[in-house]
Amino acid sequence: MLSWPGLCREGEAVYRGGRALPLFTEGHSGLMHNSRPLTEQAHRYLARYLQSGDWALDATAGNGHDTLFLAEQVGPNGHVWAFDIQAVALESTAQRLRAAGLEERVTLIQASHARMLAILPQVVIGRIKAIQFNLGYRPGGDKRLITRPETTLPALTAACRLLHPEGLISLLVYPGHPGGAKEYQAILAWLEGARLGIKRIDGCTDQSPVLFLLSHH
Ligand SMILES: C[S@@+](CC[C@H](N)C(=O)[O-])C[C@H]1O[C@@H](n2cnc3c(N)ncnc32)[C@H](O)[C@@H]1O
Repeated sequence: MLSWPGLCREGEAVYRGGRALPLFTEGHSGLMHNSRPLTEQAHRYLARYLQSGDWALDATAGNGHDTLFLAEQVGPNGHVWAFDIQAVALESTAQRLRAAGLEERVTLIQASHARMLAILPQVVIGRIKAIQFNLGYRPGGDKRLITRPETTLPALTAACRLLHPEGLISLLVYPGHPGGAKEYQAILAWLEGARLGIKRIDGCTDQSPVLFLLSHH
């Protein structure tokens, strides 16, 4: 079992099966206890990867804050695909996009993100620059409708196939709500086997959300 705090200490080499695991080090510790909301930090990292004309994917549209952010970043020539299982989430997202005049840049899909590879056009495989997962339940919505490891892990595997070689996956995990700890543990186990560059940013307590930034390099 990898020790995550050890994994993320700055400058520490991490080996998995004899192979060095590349870490993001951008002049600061990989393990950070930050005061900025992790949602905002996710956007700041993704913004570094996204350019006008790029393709992006929101795996959990929810109330559309992340979808709107991605739509803004990709500009008029880019495109965003956004998944959610709940119609009410996609309605909320559509409303937010309409208010910003950006609905043309986004395709909303009511389906599980586990099916993204089957649903999205083949042409996007290996070409999506930014993929966001913001797990848990929809704020203001039904707290029983949470993301679950049975679908989150296949979706993460699919996301790795869709990701551009120079792209970034942002994965925000919430261990603190009912069902969240189980999903968090499943994700840690999945990350151990994933051949990805991993940066981890922690909240302040064991129950706080955790942000993982994943890339192919
Ligand atoms: C924390 S919310 C997302 C917040 C959102 N990104 C925003 O900016 O408002 C999590 C969302 O994941 C959705 N969800 C749960 N299981 C899902 C699945 N299998 N596929 C796609 N979305 C799912 C929920 O319906 C909920 O709207």
